[in-house]
Formats: sequence, C-alpha cells, structure tokens
Amino acid sequence: DKKIFIAPAMNGRMWENQSNKENLKKLVDFGYEIIGPEAGDMACGEFGMGKMSEPATIINHINNYFKKLENNKKFKALVTAGPTHEYLDPVRFITNKSSGKQGYEIARSLIENGFDTTLISGPTNLSPVKGVNLIKIKSADEMLNATLSNLPTDVAIFSAAVADFKVKDKKSEKIKKNKFSELNLEKNTDILGHISNHNSLRPKLVVGFAAETTSLKNNSLKKLSEKNCDWIIANDVSRDDIGFESDFNQVSIFYKNNSEENLPRMRKSSLANEIVNRIISQLN
Ligand code: PMT
Repeated sequence: DKKIFIAPAMNGRMWENQSNKENLKKLVDFGYEIIGPEAGDMACGEFGMGKMSEPATIINHINNYFKKLENNKKFKALVTAGPTHEYLDPVRFITNKSSGKQGYEIARSLIENGFDTTLISGPTNLSPVKGVNLIKIKSADEMLNATLSNLPTDVAIFSAAVADFKVKDKKSEKIKKNKFSELNLEKNTDILGHISNHNSLRPKLVVGFAAETTSLKNNSLKKLSEKNCDWIIANDVSRDDIGFESDFNQVSIFYKNNSEENLPRMRKSSLANEIVNRIISQLN
C-alpha cells in the first residue's frame, strides 16, 4: 500500500519548527511520500512556505504514482535476505548476525512500487511483507536452489549474508564435545557470482552487497568486478549503529561504469526506497 501525506496549510514558522521537521522526517522514514507544502499567500495573511498544494497538483501527483505503479508491474524482482544456517549436526549450525531487515525493506519498497517481488529469506524473526512471494530457506544450498527456481527476473538484489562455508559431512547425530576437531569445512557456492555469470538466466540488473570491516572501497570494487555485478552496495559492518541488526544503514554504491555515490546514514526503510528509485530509473 502506498502511503502519501498531504502537507496541511500551516504558517511558515510552524513548518520550520524543529519538532515539525522531526515529525516530517519520521513520516519519510516510515515510507510516506510528502506532497507540499508550497510557498504562497497563507490564511493568516503572511506570505511564505506553508501553503497546501492545489487540488490539481495533488491529483496529478497521485495519477503519476498510479502510472508508475502500472508501468513497474511488468518487472519481476528477486531479493535474497537474512543469514543462512549451515548445520553441523541436528542442533548446531554456523551462521552470522544478519537480521534480514535490509532485504525485507527492499522487498517492501519493490512491492509498493508495483514490482512482482520474490523474497528468498534465511531464518529471521521478521513478519512476511504483504504481497511479496516469500520463500523461506535455511542453508546456502537451499537459497541457491530457490534463486535458480525463480529466474528469470529483471532485477536481483543479493542482500543476504550467505555463510561462506558449510561442513563437508553433516552428522545425523549430535557431535560429541571431543570430536569437534574433526570438522571439515567446504565453500558454499557463491550465489551472486553464479547467477551474474549465468549465460541465459542473468537478470538485466544484478545488485550485490558488500559487508566489509576494512578497506571498504577497494574490497567492494574487487567484489563488483569478480562477481560481475552491475552495482555493489557497500556497508561497514564493524559499526554498531549501521549494518547488521541495526534499523539504520549507511552505504556507498559502486557502479560498473566506475561512478560511485556515498549516501548518508538513514533508516533501512529509507535506504530501500533510495535503492528502488535507482532501480526504477535504470530499468526504464
Ligand atoms: O540483515 P541485516 O541485519 O539488515 O543486515 C544487512 C546486511 C549487513 C546483511 C546487508 O546490508 C549486507 O551487507 N549484505 C551482504 C552480506 C554479505 O554476506 O556480504 P559479502 O561481502 O560477504 O558478500 C558479497 C555478496 O555476495 C553479497 O551480495 C552476498 O549476498 C553474496 N554472496 C556471498 C556468499 C555466497 N555464498 N553467496 C552470495 O550470494
């Protein structure tokens, strides 16, 4: 569902008030699109920023939204999100701190913008996103198979924190404490790399993420080229106030054409909208 807030008529000084600005920012963070206010004559007799938009402007805005929605309905999108669980035995697994929040927000923004959206999610505590085709998996192998079964797609966004390793021979019984030195690990398939190098099934737009703790730019550029992505969205996962688990993120987007954008820290919901706006521009 699209959330639109029509800015009511208000005196300019009320609009400029700090608490009003903060409330407006909250609405933007919650995914609302704001229409108005505009500059003009106000009921109190003053001139300034605080005039409600004309009804024709509001209707025009809403009509444009529905046109955009209708146009995006032709696009399919696939998102991976959350961690994977690589079981060692029936009760223990290798995993990481991913909550799935960033990927779920991207799926939410895609569906709100009209995309036919599939979300392939590792184990998370998040509620399903209304309208999104949610496929729940546990391991990296299951995520790979689910991804392959849901191609072709126009755009794929790989925000999942896929475990890089799994155990070679998963035990059917709980491993005894003194047997842990016998664990053998092997690499999981790189899902992003596999899909973006696929001859026939490569989506038109492949967007990867890079979770880095050092040399953010260099490591991300390496992933952009090695994984054959169109864009890499890089975040610093050594910080507590962004990245894993947080409701906020701060990213740099590195593009195949060598350009880059550094976005400010914002809610994951707002970042998802920023990413989806760029996807819409790219696909049209
Ligand atoms: O889930 P949250 O708590 O909201 O946190 C969000 C996030 C930090 C998980 C997210 O913003 C993020 O950075 N996701 C990518 C995590 C990651 O595993 O990055 P990586 O640099 O290790 O991997 C690079 C890319 O390859 C990623 O797009 C990843 O999905 C993909 N990959 C990696 C390994 C693998 N076997 N298959 C993959 O597809």
